[in-house]
Amino acid sequence: MKALEEHWSNCLAKRRDQGNLRQLRPVGNRIDFYSNDYLGLSSNSDFPQMLLGIIGKNPRCLTGSTGSRLISGNSQLARDTEGYIASLHQVDAALLFSSGYSANIALFSCVVGRHDTILLDELVHRSVYDGCLISKAKRLKFRHNDTEHLEELLKKSKGKILIAIESLYSMDGDFAPLNAIADLAQKYGAGLIVDEAHALGTFGKGLVHSAQVQNKVLATVVTYGKAMGVQGAAILGSFVLKEYLINFASPFIYSTAMSDIQYESIQAAYQYVDKHTELAIVLQERIRYFRAHQLSKISQDDSPIQAIQFTSTDQLRKAVQELAKTNMQTYAVFSPTVKQGDERLRICLHLFNSNQEIDRLCSIISNYEYR
Ligand SMILES: Cc1ncc(COP(=O)(O)O)c(C=O)c1O
Repeated sequence: MKALEEHWSNCLAKRRDQGNLRQLRPVGNRIDFYSNDYLGLSSNSDFPQMLLGIIGKNPRCLTGSTGSRLISGNSQLARDTEGYIASLHQVDAALLFSSGYSANIALFSCVVGRHDTILLDELVHRSVYDGCLISKAKRLKFRHNDTEHLEELLKKSKGKILIAIESLYSMDGDFAPLNAIADLAQKYGAGLIVDEAHALGTFGKGLVHSAQVQNKVLATVVTYGKAMGVQGAAILGSFVLKEYLINFASPFIYSTAMSDIQYESIQAAYQYVDKHTELAIVLQERIRYFRAHQLSKISQDDSPIQAIQFTSTDQLRKAVQELAKTNMQTYAVFSPTVKQGDERLRICLHLFNSNQEIDRLCSIISNYEYR
């Protein structure tokens, strides 16, 4: 045991020396340019009141679900919520999970196997990679958003083929060429899986829904812990996909189902965002205001995630420290979360960020050498 702890200590010391040791820090009362609460549902007072009303009517929704969905945890509310989500997204079926991480593990670990191939955009989320590792399928990365490279790989892929992308990328804040990739998937008979963690809510019911390409997509993963202000995730797709996951996806089978308050809050979040169409409009105004400062070269115009790269990690660290001194909370992303050389400051914009706050943020950043 001592040898193991020594090994861990050495790994941690190496990280500390490289300056990228991960640490849990208390969440302070700072100006928020780092959370995924893009539409402010987690921080406004209105939405929690809506949830309190639900709890008041049915306090039992706060208790645990008592078991896996396949044993005692399959409440009527769970089934109704999945039906509700499927109809809103205009797909046949939805299957709920307690997080986007477990939804991606569930999906990628079991839908293909040893003799198949998964083509991953090099920037897809870690949960997708981890799911692919469990599946034992061959994994090939294509250059970010590069449809020519993807097509090259499609031509030489073996077995059943999956393509994994995000519609709005969490690190670069840019969009996938969704239609072009959906067409390529069709041309080569590959199944397209789209992670919409950051697009749901910020762009209505996500970009698959707004582009109306549900019939060209094998599965879409939507998560509720970001713009929707609650917790959980759903895999959207066909009836047969849902039944297959219920039978073969370990994170679904061997885990206690969510409690009813989570289903209630997911339905409430959809209703709230649907009713308050102004939220996404104000968010876009904030993004436009930020973009006018011309700091991000890699993120796209209407993305709530704006990434800024600096000439060195030293400049990045100094900028973050200066921002923290002025009470602004941003998030610096270092390797191994991104490749060495791709370190960046990740700015999340929210509808509650004022123009003055954005001005202050941008004026500090522009004192450092960004590229
Ligand atoms: C693109 C993407 N997919 C999936 C996840 C995981 O979702 P969750 O936080 O609900 O586990 C995240 C969260 O960071 C994400 O950014």
